Amino acid sequence: MPFPHHRPRRLRSTPAVRRLVAETSLQPRHLVLPMFVADGIDEPREIPSMPGVVQHTRESLRRAAADAVTAGVGGLMLFGVPRDEDKDHVGSTGVDPGGILNTALRDLSKDLGTDTVLMADTCLDEFTDHGHCGVLDERGRVDNDVTNAQYVKLAVAQAESGAHVVGPSGMMDGQVAAIRDGLDAAGHTDVIILAYAAKFSSAFYGPFRDAVGSSLQGDRRTYQQDSGNAREALREIELDLAEGADIIMVKPAMAYLDVVRAAADISPVPVAAYQVSGEYAMISAAAANGWIDGRAAALESLTSIRRAGADIVLTYWAADVAGWLT
Ligand code: PBG
Repeated sequence: MPFPHHRPRRLRSTPAVRRLVAETSLQPRHLVLPMFVADGIDEPREIPSMPGVVQHTRESLRRAAADAVTAGVGGLMLFGVPRDEDKDHVGSTGVDPGGILNTALRDLSKDLGTDTVLMADTCLDEFTDHGHCGVLDERGRVDNDVTNAQYVKLAVAQAESGAHVVGPSGMMDGQVAAIRDGLDAAGHTDVIILAYAAKFSSAFYGPFRDAVGSSLQGDRRTYQQDSGNAREALREIELDLAEGADIIMVKPAMAYLDVVRAAADISPVPVAAYQVSGEYAMISAAAANGWIDGRAAALESLTSIRRAGADIVLTYWAADVAGWLT
C-alpha cells in the first residue's frame, strides 16, 4: 500500500457517512414537471414514445398538476396541443386567450394560485401548421423579427392567463429583450423570463414531437445550435443575460453537461437544464426491457445534471421523483 494514509473508502463506509459527505443534493423543489394539455380530447391520451406521460384534458391536467404540487415539485411547465384545424401560419391559437394553452393556464392559476411556479412554453411550433418555431417569410425562412413580435403577444397572453414564468424556446435573436419590453409595457414587470438560452438542434426531441403532434417537415438548424458548439452556447447565454433573462436554460441536458457546467460557472442567475423527451424515452425503454433499473438510472441522471451545475432541472420524472424521495 504506497499511500497508507489515503483511504477514500473511509468516507463511504456507511449510509450515514455517505449522506454526511454528499456533495450534490436532489430534492423535489429542484424539479419542474413539463405537462401537455390537448384541445378536443375527452380522455387523457398516452404518448407511446413517452410511457407514463400523457396529453391531458383540461380536467385531468388540473388533477395531475395538483398532485404534482402536493408531492412537492418546484414548478410546472405547460405545453399546449391545439386541434390540427386550429393551426395556422403564424400560430394564432397560441396568442388567442381562448386557445388551449392560455385556457389551461387560467385553470391552473385559479386552482393553485401561488402554491407553485406556473410556467408556459413561449413558442409557436405547437401552433403553426408548418411546425416551425417562428413565422416564415415568402421564401420559407423563419423571419427573426416578425417572429419576435409574435412572441411578445404570446408572452403577454400567457402572463395575462396567469403564467408566473414565460419560457421563450424558439432561439430567435433578441427574443428575451423583445419579450421583456413587451411584458413591462403591458404591466407584467414581475413575470419571470426563463430563457432557453443554449438550445441545441437535437435528435433527442423526437418523442416530444409525437407528444405535441408536431407538423414539422425538415429541421430547425437555422435557429437551434449545432451540437458541437460550446463557445457559441456561452455567447448565446451572455446575450440572454444582457437582455434581462431571469433564469437561463441549457437543453438537452445529458449530452450537454459540459455546457451546463460552463453556464453555471459564469451565470449570475439560476441555471436550468431540460432533460428532454428522448432522454426520458431512452431510460424508460431500457427499463421496460429489464436492461437497466429505471428508477436508479433516472435518479442518477438527475443527480448528474445537478452535479454539472443545474439549479433547476426540467424532467418528465419530476412528480415520480418527488414521490420516490419522500
Ligand atoms: C419548442 C420546444 C421543443 C421542446 C421544448 N420546447 C421542441 C423542439 O425544439 O423541437 C422539446 C422538449 C423535449 O423534447 O422534451 N417549443
